[in-house]
Amino acid sequence: MRVGLTVNGRPLRADDVRESESLLYVLRERLGLPGSKNACEQGECGSCTVRLDGTLVCACLVAAGQAEGSEVVTVEGLADGDGLAPVQQAFLDAGAVQCGFCTPGLLVAADALLRQRPGPTDEDIREALAGNLCRCTGYEKIMDAVRLAAARYAEEA
Ligand code: FES
Ligand code: FES
Repeated sequence: MRVGLTVNGRPLRADDVRESESLLYVLRERLGLPGSKNACEQGECGSCTVRLDGTLVCACLVAAGQAEGSEVVTVEGLADGDGLAPVQQAFLDAGAVQCGFCTPGLLVAADALLRQRPGPTDEDIREALAGNLCRCTGYEKIMDAVRLAAARYAEEA
């Protein structure tokens, strides 16, 4: 089947997609967007988190056919132009990136939180990132990164 969708603002099309293929597979293997990571393929780790028509989903759990006609935002779409988005820079500055496998999913989730709730509490941040597992950082640096990004967005506003 053919699947057409808008990814990071660009209309894209994948041909010969099998019924069993996930949105994650199509993004990574057919559309050349490897930012969303494939770790568990069972909806448990959050490494493949993307925004699908404005809602956060695990791309590994979405059948590619279900995404037909949808708007998808991946980690590649967070930055505006060549520079890093403030949330991406904050993850680097706070030391929240170690192996980096969880980072794309965390960034997409953190970005969605900061769009919805510009001044999040620690509880808001924990809740927003609850579905994203990290094996390296112990989460405190990730919390610091989201707090830092929130503070920088507030300064810019
Ligand atoms: S790869 Fe999708 S949730 Fe883990
Ligand atoms: S930085 Fe390695 S899993 Fe999170």
